[in-house]
Amino acid sequence: MAEILDGKAVSQHFKDQIKAEVEAMIALGKRAPHLVAILVGNDGGSQTYVAAKEKACHEVGFTGTVLRYPDTISQEELLKKVHEINEDSEIDGLIVQLPLPKHIDENAVTQAIKPEKDVDGFHDINMGKLAKGDTTGYTSATPLGITMLLKYYGIKTSGKHAVVIGRSNIVGRPMSILLSDSSETGNCTVTLCHSRTSNLKELCLQADIVVAAIGRPGFVKGDMIKPGAVVIDVGTTRLDNASKKAGWRLAGDVDFASASENASMITPVPGGVGPMTITGLMFNTLKSRKLR
Ligand code: GUN
Repeated sequence: MAEILDGKAVSQHFKDQIKAEVEAMIALGKRAPHLVAILVGNDGGSQTYVAAKEKACHEVGFTGTVLRYPDTISQEELLKKVHEINEDSEIDGLIVQLPLPKHIDENAVTQAIKPEKDVDGFHDINMGKLAKGDTTGYTSATPLGITMLLKYYGIKTSGKHAVVIGRSNIVGRPMSILLSDSSETGNCTVTLCHSRTSNLKELCLQADIVVAAIGRPGFVKGDMIKPGAVVIDVGTTRLDNASKKAGWRLAGDVDFASASENASMITPVPGGVGPMTITGLMFNTLKSRKLR
């Protein structure tokens, strides 16, 4: 049976470190880091994620502000707000929770955020820096959180074959770059798989590390996992579950029961990558504050 990689506990460990740094800052008379999240509309998932980010801010001693707008807000109004925050010297990080309503161009909004405040790492400048191995930018929070998890558990990546399933700009592609970087959690040979990959099972069976980020619940089964592999599950699909109070449950991309029979280490859903994403965002916001 696989060892469970406890994202909740590890995120707490890093949050404690961040909190100690913030306390030291404040003791020196400096301002606490300030993260602003913009939330447009009433998407249930987005509301949950933003609430979790706000809670984490308070836990580590940051100022956390959530600006909520109705889904009728125009792109122009939203961009105006982004520009205002860009110019506010007391704000270190700005995230606009995605998805946005259809009448708003998500790319126009994410590119309007000043790269220096783009703690989500979605701006072209930060994506470009990531691609070049330039660590002065911001790395998307989920891949960053995964590298923090790998580091914490001392998982050796050098010379290993990593298979990343999913090519999103937020997770799959940046993850594939980080794992191939010349770094402590890099030096892997990386295969980036996606919906058009024809021999996915064959490739997965060659992987020492599998990162599943495709948004298809239970897609990666135990018979796709090489004995001893490390399995990282990024999936967070909400499935109806009438027996739960909230009426839904979170489902990962990995079939946990069968995969954990072959894997040496595996992240659960919930309590694996999710909390690490939030900690990655806190890490980026502290980094921005320190650079000001
Ligand atoms: N929607 C899904 N994941 C994310 C994220 O990491 N950041 C933002 N801003 N929106 C998201």
